[in-house]
Amino acid sequence: MKIVYIVGARPQLVKHALLSKELGKYHKNILIHTGQHYDYNMNKVFFEELGLSDPDYNLGVGSGTHGYQTGEMLKRIEDILIIEKPDMVIIYGDTNSTLAGALCAAKLHIILGHVEAGVRNYDKTIPEEINRITADHCSDYLFCPTNTAVKNLRKEGIKKGVYLTGDVMVDTLKLFKKYADQTKIIEDLRLNHKDYILLTIHRAGNTDNVENLVRIAQAIEFIHKAGETIVFPAHPRTLKALKNQGLSETISKSTVLLEPQGYFEFINLLNNAKKVITDSGGVQKEAYILKVPCITLLDNTSWIETVDDGWNILAGTDVKKIVEAALNFRNHNTYSNIFGEGACKRIANVLRSI
Ligand code: UD1
Ligand code: UDP
Repeated sequence: MKIVYIVGARPQLVKHALLSKELGKYHKNILIHTGQHYDYNMNKVFFEELGLSDPDYNLGVGSGTHGYQTGEMLKRIEDILIIEKPDMVIIYGDTNSTLAGALCAAKLHIILGHVEAGVRNYDKTIPEEINRITADHCSDYLFCPTNTAVKNLRKEGIKKGVYLTGDVMVDTLKLFKKYADQTKIIEDLRLNHKDYILLTIHRAGNTDNVENLVRIAQAIEFIHKAGETIVFPAHPRTLKALKNQGLSETISKSTVLLEPQGYFEFINLLNNAKKVITDSGGVQKEAYILKVPCITLLDNTSWIETVDDGWNILAGTDVKKIVEAALNFRNHNTYSNIFGEGACKRIANVLRSI
């Protein structure tokens, strides 16, 4: 088959890395990059570290409002799909690049596969929730990372084409962990093993909502004053928001403030951290896989199993809850291997049977 893959944001490169290699053994791969993320350390560094081939098409859409960004992607992806006439389109996760890819493929009647299907947090104020619901309802093949995802789809009446494959991010992490271990980031920053907290923030609800951003900054300041070292590779969106709200100084005094990190450096930072504070979906999963207790800056999560299993706690933007969890949260002794293993091979097997 000729398969067109659509990526655009940092986590999609992590998801695409091994799946494209596995499927490339049997199919012709064509990669479209929407250009949603474009800074070197939000994009190119992942191609270099994960050994990805350059995109066949780079659409250069860049940043903008949801309507602008998705609209430009729609126009440009459609043009390419009409020329390439693929047998299948594969999309990942829940970004605007996912949504645009889903709509284009569905309208052109091209078979659509969604990797990370069925994920929900049942909050439609979150842009990603709209994107994943739409993507799932457009898809012919729905590759679910967890059992909960399969059940979520069933509740929406989607039963055909649903496969429980496990999460492709496990494959990437397992293969590349040895390279992550070899990076010198821990030594370079003079950090000690399990002696610091890693922090990431980028969700719209936390960066664009001033009250939430102020509360998170306050909590970080308290945790720092309680004697903790906090390492913060900041997403460009968050840096801009902190600057706009006059919070840059508070954050740079309270944390070891870094540029966004490459995948290897970030995984090494995560693996050596005693805890992580995050609002990232991918980081919640990777923390679970690496057995690092996670404090989530959201009121709900699409990875609820990590909470049920005792490795993740939802603190939202409540200052007290965040500080209390940062200082005292301990994981349970349970570990249910929620995200499985071998997702890329399972997806490849499904596609070989088409
Ligand atoms: C997007 C996804 C989100 C995903 C995240 C992964 C949507 C709606 N959101 O959020 O689901 O979790 O990617 O990181 O698709 N910017 C730069 N340089 C870049 C990229 C972005 O400076 O290379 C800045 C721009 O100011 C931009 C802002 O970050 O406006 C937000 O970028 P955008 O891609 O719209 O959303 P993310 O917050 O990255
Ligand atoms: N990541 C990274 N460098 C960083 C922060 C995150 O390589 O500085 C990786 C992380 O390991 C995970 C992915 O980026 O694989 C998560 O992306 P992000 O948090 O931006 O988005 P989300 O998963 O919330 O969609």
